[in-house]
Formats: sequence, structure tokens, C-alpha cells
Amino acid sequence: MSNTVLTFKDYKMNNKKIAVLTAYDCSTARLMDEAGVNAILVGDSLGMVVLGYENTLQVTMDDMIHHTRAVARGAKNTLIIGDMPFMSYQTSVYDAVCNAGRLVKEGHANAVKLEGGSVVCPQIKAIVDASIPVMAHIGLTPQSVNAFGGFRVQGKSEEAALKLIDSAKEIEQAGAFAITLECIPAKLAALISQSISIPTIGIGAGNGCDGQVLVYQDMLGMFSGLTPKFVKSYADIGTQMKNAFRQYIEEVQNGKFPASEHCFDIEAAIIEKLYG
Ligand code: KIV
Ligand code: NA
Repeated sequence: MSNTVLTFKDYKMNNKKIAVLTAYDCSTARLMDEAGVNAILVGDSLGMVVLGYENTLQVTMDDMIHHTRAVARGAKNTLIIGDMPFMSYQTSVYDAVCNAGRLVKEGHANAVKLEGGSVVCPQIKAIVDASIPVMAHIGLTPQSVNAFGGFRVQGKSEEAALKLIDSAKEIEQAGAFAITLECIPAKLAALISQSISIPTIGIGAGNGCDGQVLVYQDMLGMFSGLTPKFVKSYADIGTQMKNAFRQYIEEVQNGKFPASEHCFDIEAAIIEKLYG
């Protein structure tokens, strides 16, 4: 059965955990779809893990549409969530609705995600009113890296924790179907999850969330940048890829590849004539 926003609602009601992964291309998305992931987030983490930027700030709407569309081609049973890049929704409610619309119309997303609490609730409401489901994202919101002064755990003081709880409630009121909680203390994330009726999807937010999300290059050991504490390594694909690349290079150099089974034949009589 296909996953939709109703799946998210149903899982929260029935205490079932929601599994989300990021993907940025068709072939990876197909593998995740076949494995049975509930949703794929085409994150603006694209900028870091695929495009090689320092942070997510340089990612454009065109980048997001291009990759969301590729993912949508590969994943047929999975809810596709397109991430709204920096400055595609902060500027105005109008910009937010137009750009969310582009992610659906041109990118073939089923839903969009944007970062922020109270401040972006007018945007969330307007996008939802346009019949586009919205996932919010609070805690460590990477598009605010310059305002935060770096990537750091959020919500540790009483004031900051209260602000996150209030934001989660306002986001639910604004009509979001889910909230990503990134890098906040586990007990605070559990409390937020119990305080609202829409599911929370955690990353670095502990086991009390209603679901989890990970960047796939992180969980497969494919990203050579800094790996955060909250990442679990499920396979060392990076090392396996490097070993395969090394073997290929060696076999090209020593002539072992391609072997006869990798070659196409031609009739002996024809080739004799060609040689003259
Ligand atoms: O861009 C992204 O991959 C994200 C997740 C880490 C939640 O926003
Ligand atoms: Na993101």
C-alpha cells in the first residue's frame, strides 16, 4: 500500500514508528522504496552530501526540483517530501506558496518541508490551504547556521525548551502534518511528541519521537565530512565503494578487465576480410 500523509496520522494513532530517509536520486530512491521506507525526504542536505557545499544555504529551488523529480521517478509507494531551500519561503507567504507549488508541480513532491517555528506559521497555513501538506522542522535548523553561530544542540535551557514546545503546538495549529525535531535533548523531544497529535520525526532527538530520519550517506558511511553523534552506521558502503573502485582501476591497468565474457562477437569471416 502506498504511503501518504494518512499513513503518518495512522502510525501516530497506533503507536507505530515512522521510518524516513533522505534521497537525492532515482536509483537510491528505488532501493529505499523497495525496502519499504514510509517517506523519502529530498533534503536540502543535498547541498552538503551531493553538491559539496559547506552548508545548505546555497541550494536553489532549481536544485531541489531537479533532485525531487529524480527521486519521485524511483519511489512509487513512498511519500515524497521536498525540502524548501533557504530564501524560498522566509521572504513572504506568497513566495512560500509559489515555491511549495513548484516542488509539487515541477518536482512531483507529495509534500514539502520548511524550517522554523512561530515565524513561519503563516507560511505553513497558506501552503496547507493550497492543499500541499507541510512538514515543519524545529530545533537545529541548518538554514539558521549563521544566526546560531554553528551547528549545535538546541533547546537546552528552560526558556529555549519552552519556546520549542510552544512552536510545536503553533505548528500543529497551523496545519502541518508532521514536525522534524533535529538535535534537541531526547527527553524534551519525547515531551513535545506527547504534547501534540501530529507525528514528530527525530534526527538527533532520541527514541521518544514518533519516527526517525537519517541522511543516507551518513548511515551508510559514504560521507567523508564530520559525522554527528546521533548517526548510527548501518553499513560501511563508502569503504566498499572505494575498494571496488581500486580493484577496477587495477584491472583496467593490468588488462584483466574487460574479459571475454564482457565482449561482443563478430563472425570470423567478416573480421578476416576487414583485416585484409
Ligand atoms: O536536509 C535534510 O536532510 C534534513 C533532514 C536532516 C531532516 O532536513
Ligand atoms: Na533540510
